[in-house]
Amino acid sequence: VAALTEQAAILNTHTRYLSEGILDYAERLLDCFPPELRSVIFTCSGSEATDLAYRLARSATGGTGFVVTSFAYHGGTVAIAELSPSLGSRVGVAPTTRCVPAPDPYRASDEDPATRFASDVRAAIADLTAHGIRPAALLVDSIFASDGIFPDPVGVLAPAADAIREAGGVFIADEVQAGFGRTGHGMWGFGRHDVTPDIVTLGKAMGGGHPIAGVVAKPDILSEFGERSRYFNTCGGTPVSCRVGMAVLDVIERDALIDNARVVGSRLVEGLRGLGDRHEVIGDVRGAGLFIGVELVLDRVTREPATAATAQLVNGLRRRRILVGSTGPHVNVLKIRPPLVFSQENASFLLEALDDALSEL
Ligand SMILES: Cc1ncc(COP(=O)(O)O)c(C=O)c1O
Repeated sequence: VAALTEQAAILNTHTRYLSEGILDYAERLLDCFPPELRSVIFTCSGSEATDLAYRLARSATGGTGFVVTSFAYHGGTVAIAELSPSLGSRVGVAPTTRCVPAPDPYRASDEDPATRFASDVRAAIADLTAHGIRPAALLVDSIFASDGIFPDPVGVLAPAADAIREAGGVFIADEVQAGFGRTGHGMWGFGRHDVTPDIVTLGKAMGGGHPIAGVVAKPDILSEFGERSRYFNTCGGTPVSCRVGMAVLDVIERDALIDNARVVGSRLVEGLRGLGDRHEVIGDVRGAGLFIGVELVLDRVTREPATAATAQLVNGLRRRRILVGSTGPHVNVLKIRPPLVFSQENASFLLEALDDALSEL
């Protein structure tokens, strides 16, 4: 708040006027990435960032085909809504989009999820090619938040990224949900999977509530785009936004929020699994840092989704002054994603309330 108000009182303008703040922030942000990712463009929303990534991928590859997961959400522009099957059949995916199941170790067969995910991506690419559509990109949310939250197994993204690159496409990691330390293992969700994307989209936590978002990419992708196309975004990367973005990075570092996410998150997962010993409806608990999914089922053998019980629990928690959402195609996964300052005490409060609300089912 101090960074925002201080800069707002000095100057706010768009990026046609040169200012130092955008350079300082861009350098600091890029230092958080693997060395291959050396270029950034700022936007105001995650949807704009993903829309720009879409254009970059098409321009860099000459392709138009995209592969996404079956219940993905990547944003609300016309192009990106057509890459967001979770919006439902009235929106519909584009004829150039192919959907693959997210790697779901809880419901999948015994096959290794990474091998299976890569072979699904390969099949989608083959289908695009068979229809005369050249592949442009594989686009995934690196924690599969809307598909039901699948942080594991570690390494699951790498073979799929290889598959799209072999077909001439690029790999885009959507870090709008998983980015900025939430997974408790470095800054980015893709970092847990030991893969370097060609393009990364950022948003949400980037401004801690202030609308700043962006695209980070390999420099050749951005320079190729820059030579052929223009991109201008009036409120993207303003002096105020860049000061705010910088303050967010300062606080993540100063308060060791990545460590906090890892430590509190893993204790919370333990506590939630403990609740599973007493409440049969808990089918699976999975998480990375402070991004945790609790999948609720009517029967642990058939794994039939407990959709109504999930809604009841969300409301039971709300009555106990705790806000959580639900996610997944069957809306039967509690999405526990608290602020990164979440303390051990806060976690205990949540566990007690959840125990209580579960007993009420
Ligand atoms: C994974 C993911 N990508 C992109 C977006 C779009 O971001 P925004 O709402 O800032 O446009 C969202 C928003 O929920 C998201 O969850």
